[in-house]
This record gives sequence, structure tokens and C-alpha cells, in this order.
Amino acid sequence: MCGIVGIAGTRDVAPVLMEALRRLEYRGYDSAGIATLVDGVIERRRASGKLNKLDVVLKQTPLAGHTGIGHTRWATHGTPTEANAHPHSTARVAIVHNGIIENFRELKAELVAKGHSFESQTDSEVAAHLVSQYLDDGLAPGEAAKTAVARLTGAYSIAMIFKGHEGLLVGARKGSPLALGFGETESYLGSDAFALAPFTNRVAYLEEGDVAVIQGIDVAIFDAAGRPANREIKITTASAAIVEKAGHSHFMAKEIHEQPVVIGHTLAHYLDPAGPSVRRLGVGLRPALASATRLTISACGTAYYAGMVGKYWFEKLARLAVEIDVASELRYRDPVYPEHGAALFITQSGETADTLAALRDAKAQGQTTIAIVNVPESSIAREADINLPTYAGPEIGVASTKAFTCQLAALASFAIAAGVARGHLTAEDEKSLCASLLETPRHIAELLKQEAQIKAVAEKVAKARDVLYLGRGPSYPLALEGALKLKEISYIHAEGYAAGEMKHGPIALIEEDVPIIVIAPHDQYFEKTISNMQEVMARGGKVLLISDAKGVHMAGKTWASITVPTTNAFITPLLYAVPVQLLAYFAALARGTDVDQPRNLAKSVTVE
Ligand code: M6R
Repeated sequence: MCGIVGIAGTRDVAPVLMEALRRLEYRGYDSAGIATLVDGVIERRRASGKLNKLDVVLKQTPLAGHTGIGHTRWATHGTPTEANAHPHSTARVAIVHNGIIENFRELKAELVAKGHSFESQTDSEVAAHLVSQYLDDGLAPGEAAKTAVARLTGAYSIAMIFKGHEGLLVGARKGSPLALGFGETESYLGSDAFALAPFTNRVAYLEEGDVAVIQGIDVAIFDAAGRPANREIKITTASAAIVEKAGHSHFMAKEIHEQPVVIGHTLAHYLDPAGPSVRRLGVGLRPALASATRLTISACGTAYYAGMVGKYWFEKLARLAVEIDVASELRYRDPVYPEHGAALFITQSGETADTLAALRDAKAQGQTTIAIVNVPESSIAREADINLPTYAGPEIGVASTKAFTCQLAALASFAIAAGVARGHLTAEDEKSLCASLLETPRHIAELLKQEAQIKAVAEKVAKARDVLYLGRGPSYPLALEGALKLKEISYIHAEGYAAGEMKHGPIALIEEDVPIIVIAPHDQYFEKTISNMQEVMARGGKVLLISDAKGVHMAGKTWASITVPTTNAFITPLLYAVPVQLLAYFAALARGTDVDQPRNLAKSVTVE
């Protein structure tokens, strides 16, 4: 989603802004631009499409200037054209914006009545004109910015530069993240610490309603009520090194292959191999789990499917009642929370707008909030009462892969701890479950050796227009995840269903050219799933079965099969995620789509 960078610098900042924007590319975008002060005058360069197009524009018409802002835009209001690309500006101010200004129509009407004319279809342009109007009214830049942002409703992070004010940069945050970077001779604004990492590791995060007025290296922060505020400067762990593909053609392929290592890192945080046992959870979590009457789980997309797997684990291992909903529904549903309940939020980025809003709502309603988060300095990691980190490392591919399996590793550890704390698991049970979990990296490394066979099957799947995924029990969320993965990167229409639901409608879709991917480890659900599979095959459906050796043998002849190592049923969701990811990856390759940055998608979904 949109990426913001701003520099109050001491050198020509255009190349530096471009470097920072490159580090924000992973968020997903469809146009880009930068603006600087050239002899005190605002100048812009913008382009639709990827940063290399902006690069071409900058080579043709270079931009000088020591003060500047840059932006990668993920279109919300208006198509990804140059005219809609940020920065938006008047002669007096240029702004870059991430989020959605919900009252832009009213503000625009007011400004048009005052003689302003607009060039774009965006909601963001209104912010530039509003600030400009307050400058025209005689306010100083900092005051004009504060007065303007106080009138914006919706979510935003904004950076601004002003005509005739060298070294002045203003940033504002409400709903979307904005980090402040402190250099020796320069100051910075950025959507995340990762964008700022090559320039400084000293970072502060603006809080809701904050406005930062930066003049060179002097920074003044004001809170939502306009009072001077201090925000703690932290030493960020974000690495300045550009994340490379390490010999893989795509980040997604690299991230799939990293799974044995990063799952190992995540498990090493939670499990003591000497027991083996669960050693580490957030302070206060075990007692909260022991007495909890219900756990509410919420997340979006792939993280939500991880939560669904977690529901099976918490119910089975800890006899803990779980309510689960996607964050975009939970936040608006007026949910009934139990007194002193716990609410768990799962997210890779830690910035997903709906998940963050659902967490804030649960907190306001007295829930102990727990977050499973991959990005350690993100808003959700900072705001949750208890933070359960995953150690997937930076995930650049838009399709979530290693973050998903690391979320499962954390959830599995958490569910075992809950089972012990609630007296449903004995020390022996804990030992055996932890031992199985610790075997996961080895099994996944084994599974990855089948890449060539999975590629061959994926190339057959790639020819389909529609694909169905079926699963039961914890394999049901994997069916949903498989369908999401395939559709988001290959653009093949795919749906996931609980296998038992087939007869209630979806079976009407069975045709010879619709592959049905059945996820069925040889577990307690196997016989039932295989019966559903037979019903599909009896109607001419061609089945790709993903199972273990025994399951593949017992199921008999199918259109295709993938054999997953035989393990304790508990850990199968982590293993079966891998063929599901590889199928989507190779199907996308066969169709020639943009695997790492699929159309219309963003990595960090900071608008609702
Ligand atoms: O950063 P988050 O984990 O909160 O993101 C949630 C979803 O946007 C994300 O999982 C999305 O569904 C992925 N593109 C799926 O691969």
C-alpha cells in the first residue's frame, strides 16, 4: 500500500528519496513520484507504473534540492495515472498521503467555492489545497498543517514540504503509520523504519493525531490536542541491507525455501528442546489462559486462515472456546466480549488497518490483547498488551508464505501452553506435541525436495479456469489458503470449501476441466474426506490428492497426487501449507504473472 518518505537534507535528495522508495516497493503500488524544493520552489516528477518509469523521468529531467518528499501510490480514489500520482501540490505546498480522507468531498466543495481548482481524482489532493488555503489565510506552515489535518476524517499519514521553506518538513499521523528518523545532519519521515534504515537507526513513531514539525535536525512533535509531545527514540532493528532473492527467481520462491530455517527460529523462541516443553510466552499470558472463558481470534487474509487452524488447536488441546472472525467484520459487528476475556490478533505486517482497529476495539472493551506479529516495531506489536513474535524475517512477496507457517508455529506453541495451563494436557502430552513440532523444519526441508514433481502438477493446474480446494478439520483452512494463494498470484478463479459442504451446492461446479485439490492427511478426518472425494470423482471431477503415503495408497487412483511426509497429525497444517504454496507459485509462473507483486494487491493493507 502507499509508501511515504520525506527528507530535510543537506545534499541533493532525489536519489536518496528513490532509494527509500525502492525499499517501500514491497508494499505494492501502481504509480510513484517525488517533489523537492529547487531554489525554494516546489518541483515534481511523477510517473504511472513502477519506479523504473519514474527513474526514466528523473534521468530526462533531473531534480535538485535538499528538501523533498516521495511516494509510491496504491490507487484507491482514481486510476493509477500520472495526474493521480503523488505528490499533490499547489504553488505553496506539496503533500504525499497514505490512507483515505473520508470527508474529501465536503472539503473539496468548500475549497472549490473559494476558487481552488483540482487536477486529480484523488481524495489526497484536498489535503494540499486545504493546507494552502490556511497559508493564504496567513498561518505559518506548521500551524497551517496542524489546522488542516485536524479537519481530516478517515485515516492518514502525510508528509509535506513548503515553498520558500528550505529544510522544513511536516508529518502527521492518524490511522496509518509514520516513523521519524533522526540523522546527524538530516531528518527523515517514512512509512516504516525499513525505508529509513540506510539513513539512520534512530527512529520514533508518531502516535495517533500527532503532527511533527521538522526544521533540519530540530524536531517538534505535537499531540492530537496540539500540546508539545515527546516520543521515545528507539534504535531500530530494521536492516539497511537490501533483501535479495538469494539466487531465486522470485522473493516468493526464496521465502518458501526459507521456511525450515525461519520456522526453526520461531520454534526456538517458544520451545525448550531439552524438555521438550513450551518455555516462553508473554508475561501474564499463562494465568490469563488458565482462567479464560473464551478466546477471540481475528485477522485478515492468510493470517485469518492461520487463526482458523489455531481454533482447531485451542479447542482440541486446551478445551478453550474460540470465536473467530475476519477483522473487517469483527470491528463493525458490535461483538459481545466476555468479561476479562482475551483477544488474539495475527498479522505479518502489524499494520493491517482492519486488524489494528479490531485490536483497539477489543482493548477498549477490556480484553487482554495478544498479537502474533512478524514486524517487531509495527503498530500492532506496539499496541498489543502481549506480543508473541514470529521470526519469519522480512517477507517481500505479496503472497504470504513463510509468515503463515511461522504464525502456525507460534499458534501451535501457544495452544500447547494453553492446554497445559488449563489442565487438559499432561507433561507427557506437552513433551510429545513439542517433539513433533520441533520435527517440522526437517519434514519441510524433505518436502521441498519434491519441488520438480509439484511443478509438473502445477503446470497442469495452470491450464484450468476454475479450481476447487477441499479439506476437513484443520485442512479446511488450508483449502481456503490454497485457493487464496492460487487466485492472488495466478489469477485463476479458485474457491476453498469444507469437504462436507460439497453436496450442499459446490458439487454443481464439477466438470472435467475443473481440478479439485483435496487436502487429506491420513488423520481422523481422512475417511470422510475420501468419501467426499469419491463423490467428486463419480461426477467426472479430476482430483489432485495431497496426502501422506498411506493416504495416497488408500485413496487409490486419482488424476494426480502429492505425497507429504507422514507425521503426527498435529503438525500437518504446517507441512501441507508447502505444496499448496508451491502449486500456486508454479501455476503463476506457467501463466507468466507478476508473482511477487500481483496486480491490484498490496503487501501492507493500511486502508480499510
Ligand atoms: O500483514 P497481515 O498479515 O495483517 O496481512 C493480512 C493479509 O492482507 C495478507 O495475509 C494477504 O491475504 C496476503 N496477500 C495473502 O497471501
